[in-house]
Amino acid sequence: MFEGLQSPISFWLFGVIIVLLVLHFLYSDFSSKRLEPPGPRPVPLFGNLFQVDLKWLDKSLFDLSKKYGPVFQVYLGPKKVVVLAGYKTVKQALMNHAVEFGNREITPAFYDLTKSHGIIFSNGDNWKEMRRFGLKVLKDFGMGKKMSEEIIIKECSHLIEEFEHFQGKPFLNTKPINYATSNVISALLFGRRFDYKDPVFQAMVRRENEIIRLTGSASVWIYNFFPWLGPLLKNWRDLITNVEDNKAEARKIIAELKESLDPEVCRCYVDAFLIHKKHLEDSGMKNVYYHDDNLLYSVTNLLEAGNDTTANTLKWGLLHMAKNPHIQHRVQEELSTVVGSRQVQIEDRKNLPYTDAVVHEIQRLSNIFPISLPHATSTDVTFQGYFIRKGTTVIPLLTSVLYDESEWESPHSFNPSHFLDEEGKFIRRDALLSFSAGRRACLGESLAKMEVFLFFTSLLQRFRFTPPPGLSEDELDLTPVVGFSLCPRPQKLCAVQRK
Ligand code: HEM
Repeated sequence: MFEGLQSPISFWLFGVIIVLLVLHFLYSDFSSKRLEPPGPRPVPLFGNLFQVDLKWLDKSLFDLSKKYGPVFQVYLGPKKVVVLAGYKTVKQALMNHAVEFGNREITPAFYDLTKSHGIIFSNGDNWKEMRRFGLKVLKDFGMGKKMSEEIIIKECSHLIEEFEHFQGKPFLNTKPINYATSNVISALLFGRRFDYKDPVFQAMVRRENEIIRLTGSASVWIYNFFPWLGPLLKNWRDLITNVEDNKAEARKIIAELKESLDPEVCRCYVDAFLIHKKHLEDSGMKNVYYHDDNLLYSVTNLLEAGNDTTANTLKWGLLHMAKNPHIQHRVQEELSTVVGSRQVQIEDRKNLPYTDAVVHEIQRLSNIFPISLPHATSTDVTFQGYFIRKGTTVIPLLTSVLYDESEWESPHSFNPSHFLDEEGKFIRRDALLSFSAGRRACLGESLAKMEVFLFFTSLLQRFRFTPPPGLSEDELDLTPVVGFSLCPRPQKLCAVQRK
């Protein structure tokens, strides 16, 4: 029967046909008569990679949603992905079906980051316990409250000092802003801040930003679909080097804290974890989750999630101010009238409606996590009439929420009126889902909001941000550098001291 396959060529041809047939059956989901979400027709192996631009994944998926509707599916290589688009659909899935859509998709690259430990890239009971503990400890340490306000205000003065060195001349604000936000989260995790000139700290922050950029790069997406290609892809190799180097640094800091640990004095998140672990062990209770890997990876998770996102929001904020001098001027007028020259406090926010609206508009338009972090279904679910199998990757497309034409009056332009009523009072908008929603929503939302508000207002009190001499506002570039988070292209601005 297999006589015809005796030549190597026929054998390979036979193999290829079998693979194609298997893929065809997989793609057309012959086993199911239930209605699947619509989507472009995939080709074997490559799926819809010819219709989707991996370099601008969120934009591509947003365009496809206009053709296929708010729930559709695409094949990224052999991987089926269901995309949720528009505020109403994303909210309905993440809030009303929180459990069904509440798992994290752990792509091969995400697995490389934390081996399914920690908070962001874990699931099940491990995730529940690590998230609960993380939230509790960060709240105990004042996340979103007075204590973190003091930490942030102290860091504002270091950042201002750094900006002053440039005496109004053009400079790149990227590094100092990254150091400032990184120090806020370091204070909570390690009980200390680092000097901006410390080369070990500088390298750690640079690697944190690189990790986020690289995980969202086109070639690391390719690695996610075809993991065996990993060693051939430079971005993947760089990603692993950065991850390993940062793990080594975090291990050192944790070891120092372990050595000086006094169970009676809890200085930071790491102490709280170690004290809790010791308590479980001393009292003979079962300890499944409080081990070195969960500590290390929760720490690296919080460092990476807490630094890059907040720093990028601030960088976008200053860029939008330099691009829109009339808006910047109004913020500064309001700050001068309401606060004067004293340090801005979080309490002032309610008396600064225009400034608050500007901060919210920065949050919306910066669209920091355009595809959020991918989710996965924890069970079979029928959603808006479509059947989605357990374990399917789900992208809550935040770009389509933050730029939803049915929610925002001018979705693509910087318009603080989105958050103001006719009398100029601040209004909340439910469609501002920059921190996502539901059970996987951002754990650091209250800290991040406080940071963005205090850093932004403190900087605007002291400085007027302008393009470098010879460059007009129109020439400032708003095209983002795409990674997992969107950050502004490095470009110099001037921070001119206000009189
Ligand atoms: C402006 C700043 C920030 C933005 C825009 C932001 C946004 C997000 C988004 C969109 C997610 C994904 C939610 C989902 O999967 O549906 C997320 C997750 C997360 N964020 Fe943030 N974030 C910010 C700052 C922070 C900070 C300061 C921290 C740390 C204190 C933090 C910690 C986390 C963690 C731990 C998760 C994973 C939650 C989980 O999987 O259960 N984020 N964030």
